Amino acid sequence: MSRHDGTYDIASSYEDNYQKGPFIQEAPPQRVISPTHTFLGFAVNSRLGVPAGPLLNANWILAYASLGFDLLVYKTVRTVATPSHPHPNCIFLETKGLIKEQDFGNRLLATTKQPSVIDEISITNSFGMPSRDPKMWQEDIQKAKRGLGKGQVLIVSVVGTPDQGNLANDYAKGASLAVDAGADIIEINLSCPNVVGGEGSVFTDPIFSSTISKAVKQAIGSVPLIIKIGYVRDTTKLAEVVKANAPHIDAISSLNTLSFEVVNADGSSALPGRLRSGICGSVIRGCAIEQAKRVVVLRQKEKYDFVIIGVGGVMTTDHIRQFLNCEIDAVMSATGAMWNPHLAYQYWQEGK
Ligand SMILES: Cc1cc2nc3c(=O)[nH]c(=O)nc-3n(C[C@H](O)[C@H](O)[C@H](O)COP(=O)(O)O)c2cc1C
Repeated sequence: MSRHDGTYDIASSYEDNYQKGPFIQEAPPQRVISPTHTFLGFAVNSRLGVPAGPLLNANWILAYASLGFDLLVYKTVRTVATPSHPHPNCIFLETKGLIKEQDFGNRLLATTKQPSVIDEISITNSFGMPSRDPKMWQEDIQKAKRGLGKGQVLIVSVVGTPDQGNLANDYAKGASLAVDAGADIIEINLSCPNVVGGEGSVFTDPIFSSTISKAVKQAIGSVPLIIKIGYVRDTTKLAEVVKANAPHIDAISSLNTLSFEVVNADGSSALPGRLRSGICGSVIRGCAIEQAKRVVVLRQKEKYDFVIIGVGGVMTTDHIRQFLNCEIDAVMSATGAMWNPHLAYQYWQEGK
């Protein structure tokens, strides 16, 4: 291995990673496979994917497709070109073990030292959802779509930008542009500042989030729609959000990063200028499984028919099984897939 083990080089800028990545040392052998599962109406080879984030463009999508990830989410795009937050964008967490409810509000310690064991890797990240101009990402999405193999689907993640007028309309516009470019499925990232409710992120606001999902569904018609939500600590609130969105959506992807203050040993911000950022990787798996299970319970109770995608802390093949054993329909790994790009292949081999 070279100076970094991850396929995304956290010591380099977002732009360098966009242009030169992914940094994959060795591709695993080919899988012998045929589409045996169904995901949102598509015949797919497996129920495993990479969520919005690590797959920055078509080169990344196609590299991970060839590594055996079959549900591929193109990193969140916008209707307007937006730069990334300055480098550094990611740093490891010193914390080991799973984050629990009582840890919320505590500051976490960062480290530049990469844990040696995959199961101990957690990071914080802050990119600000950068995006190319729509014309550029539309061309790139076409390239990604053309290169995918049989039994693989391209999901495009979209977010609205508050200063582009009506936020719901901007989400809908972005989603339509992604469908025009060839997206099989649209995901909307609802972890976006709440410009209407004023507090927190859109995904905690049942009315505003469902205004957005409704507008997007109207714009994309029969193309399946996934909403990506973050952690909702209050179960009653989670039930309200799910209930309000259920009529407009085909799937829920749970969950996004958890928001924490992350500091260096001397108390300074680990990511300069951004005391608070999103943590992901191993430490969030407990919260991720807990919330996904809560959504499963709501689906059973209310007889919803949406698909549930479990995301958060999936580092090993055991973790994939942990999610699937909870009646979750599909599983995605971001941090795990960045430091263990052979995860999908390992999972396939174990199931042979
Ligand atoms: C490098 C990186 C970039 C990310 N960017 C996005 C993004 O653009 N949109 C989004 O919805 N989630 C984004 N995420 C969040 C992931 O999709 C995922 O919800 C989160 O990382 C938890 O999964 P994990 O523990 O497997 O990393 C990003 C995560 C990482 C690690």
